[in-house]
Amino acid sequence: MLLSDGFRAHAQKSLQVLFNINYCAAQAQKTLSNIPASGNNLPRNIDKGKTDWRYVNYKDWCSGFWPGILWYLYEGTHDEKWKTAADSFTKELQPLSEHSGFDHDLGFMIFNSFGNGYRLTGNPEYKRVVLRSADSLATLFNPKVGTILSWPSMVKKMGWPHNTIIDNMINLELLFWASKNGGSRHLYDIAVKHAETTMRNHFRPDYTSYHVVVYDTITGKKIKGITHQGYADNSMWARGQSWAIYGFTMCYRETGKTEFLNFAQKVADVYLGRLPADLIPFWDFDDPAIPNAPKDASAACVTASALLELSGFVKDKHKAQIYRQKAEAMLQTLSSPAYQSHQVNNAFLLHSTGHHPAGTEIDASIIYADYYYLEALLRLDKLQHGKAAHYQHKSN
Ligand code: GLY
Repeated sequence: MLLSDGFRAHAQKSLQVLFNINYCAAQAQKTLSNIPASGNNLPRNIDKGKTDWRYVNYKDWCSGFWPGILWYLYEGTHDEKWKTAADSFTKELQPLSEHSGFDHDLGFMIFNSFGNGYRLTGNPEYKRVVLRSADSLATLFNPKVGTILSWPSMVKKMGWPHNTIIDNMINLELLFWASKNGGSRHLYDIAVKHAETTMRNHFRPDYTSYHVVVYDTITGKKIKGITHQGYADNSMWARGQSWAIYGFTMCYRETGKTEFLNFAQKVADVYLGRLPADLIPFWDFDDPAIPNAPKDASAACVTASALLELSGFVKDKHKAQIYRQKAEAMLQTLSSPAYQSHQVNNAFLLHSTGHHPAGTEIDASIIYADYYYLEALLRLDKLQHGKAAHYQHKSN
């Protein structure tokens, strides 16, 4: 992979990280000032042409992103007002830890809210919630298959006996963390097994990912690879590939297993090799409507955050530099007037796509784009100060 002169010049313009973190804080303050006090009060998306957030409650898979953003703002600004707000919204999700394992999304919901909260405050009640939730997520693991059942609700609805989606890779972090912070060693083994099985079954020979893999619960064998949110069964759905880049990078951080590091690079390279010039992917790399298809800024945010971490692990200095520069260039584009919301609405970013086949959240502002954008800015800030990009959770 070579960098063109134009690209090199673009990446070398240093991103104003603190300026953009302050932009996020200003937008979040507008949201906070208008948010309902109770009921459905967790921001999820602002549809194209609308100005108000659509709010959800703690049961929605996106419920953890708003509290997570508030924790990140506390971390980035040290302003106690964000801590107070983060604590209040985090506590709304507490009932989730009392349910039996209902969906892999428990990881997104609990780790972004209570996980970040515990990391920044050491509050033992947060820790108890995270540990209970990890045990709950682990009940969805099928040892015959070697993966977590991602969507129990789709077993009957879609006729997918054991289904695993690539997004599920992110939620292994909850298991790794719990296994190192008072939970069972079994949680670590489940996470490793899930990642290994996914590595074997979820990818085509060119390292592009299926969205969903359906398994036989009795034999444990793979039945088929298909899509749910992508353009076609064999297409590269942008956010799915982003989850893979992020997930295998995180698995390397947590295990030190070089097969995960090598795999993270393979899945990153095929994504990077097919990006449009501004480095923000169309929602699916194989949509025949490209270049008139919608973009997915959320995939770019997830990828930028992942590449910043990956750049710190890769031994080949040239390759590490390319990952870092690509991530910075993605953040440059995301931080430009073409992608930042400013007066259009109170989100951080425009132009994400949630579920194109269902016709929902197309070219919209979506809360998880904002979450990973802010995470990437904080990671870049750490790198610029000579620290590791990823967060070290306290082990106690
Ligand atoms: N985890 C669901 C999505 O990426 O849309």
